[in-house]
Amino acid sequence: MNRLAPSILSADFSRLGEEVKTIEEAGAHVIHVDVMDGHFVPNISYGATVMKSLLGKTGLPFDVHLMIENADRYIESFVTENTEYITVHAEACVHLHRTIQLIRSFGVKAGVALNPATPPSVLEYVLEDLDMALVMSVNPGFGGQKFIPSAMDKLRTLAAMKAERNPRMVIEVDGGVSLQNVSQLTEAGADLIVAGSSVFGAPDISARVKEFLALM
Ligand code: DX5
Ligand code: ZN
Repeated sequence: MNRLAPSILSADFSRLGEEVKTIEEAGAHVIHVDVMDGHFVPNISYGATVMKSLLGKTGLPFDVHLMIENADRYIESFVTENTEYITVHAEACVHLHRTIQLIRSFGVKAGVALNPATPPSVLEYVLEDLDMALVMSVNPGFGGQKFIPSAMDKLRTLAAMKAERNPRMVIEVDGGVSLQNVSQLTEAGADLIVAGSSVFGAPDISARVKEFLALM
């Protein structure tokens, strides 16, 4: 089953709890948590404290997308009873294999994200250890950017790698996802769909979640 993961990067932070409740009641499956350090990406978002403020307020699992350097130092602080995935960037991890094992040592599923210019082949020697591969369809750092079309081809390549070597691996797509392209993305092999501005920027957030779910 495909799942929808609205990104709270585009939520109204002054009303974060209420907005998360809205997407949960509308049927969203996962909360995508974008963590940016101002070094790996040219923007600073929020950290584990903000994510943890949602504990006890939502039953939805957290999908933590770490766009940070020195991920090993911070991984444990994102491990909570709601944390399903912790994803690191291949470009930011010198010892990627070790970092994946570290995430899994906490009983959390491990994901690796690929920037638009990074080939799927960087996952060649860790594929069997992965719970998730995240295809970035924008350059990470900001919500509301335009979808980069080459991501479609990367999704198909990863779907083929998944079928051959690790069928339980989830493929996630993140960046520029809209009602216009979501069906194409699921057809190309995306299992977990991130949508930020197209959900939280909608005039009716709840109706927008339902529109997405109908198309997936
Ligand atoms: C971008 C983040 C995304 C972002 C997506 O660096 O990783 O998760 O929130 O936002 P939209 O859906 O608006 O492109
Ligand atoms: Zn993200």
